[in-house]
Amino acid sequence: MLAAKIKATLRDVPNFPKPGIIFKDITPILKDPALCGEITSALVLQLNGIKIDVVAGIESRGFLFGLALAQALDVPFVPIRKAGKLPYKTIQQSYELEYGSATLEVHEDAFGAGLQVLIHDDLLATGGTVVAASQLVEQLGAQVAGYSFLISLGFLNGKERLSSFSEDVYSLVD
Ligand code: PRP
Ligand code: MG
Repeated sequence: MLAAKIKATLRDVPNFPKPGIIFKDITPILKDPALCGEITSALVLQLNGIKIDVVAGIESRGFLFGLALAQALDVPFVPIRKAGKLPYKTIQQSYELEYGSATLEVHEDAFGAGLQVLIHDDLLATGGTVVAASQLVEQLGAQVAGYSFLISLGFLNGKERLSSFSEDVYSLVD
């Protein structure tokens, strides 16, 4: 089954990027084209047909399956990037990290008002990253239709933080 295959293929890297963190490395998955195809199909299926106008993927690992998912759904893809990377006019949203803060940006014409936006990232940990992405969606008058992840780390309570934007949180592996 797919969740078991993803778990078996993921590489746990202890003490990266800092001591005490076990990094979930998805690069072994990317080397398996058949598995990548199965993942994209499963990301589509788990959405249960909810209405999605746009997929927004978060730099950088959310770009990898985000575009594939948008293509499979036949909807536009929007990149949400770290500060200073997007060339056109942007809006910004800062968020707290374990130490310090970071900023995400999106082009100001990325989402039309009222559109239903699916936010995709590889991994849900504390939820800080996708909460900031949700605030960008709402700043532009669009709505968060749901969240799509490959992996969700339940013990960090990320899902609870997302619930004020959308109850629809989907992940292939918990
Ligand atoms: C990782 C991961 C998610 C985020 C999850 O990205 O890819 O985007 O952290 O953490 P959170 O739920 O606690 O916010 P990272 O910032 O390491 O950057 P990358 O995707 O560019 O590697
Ligand atoms: Mg990331």
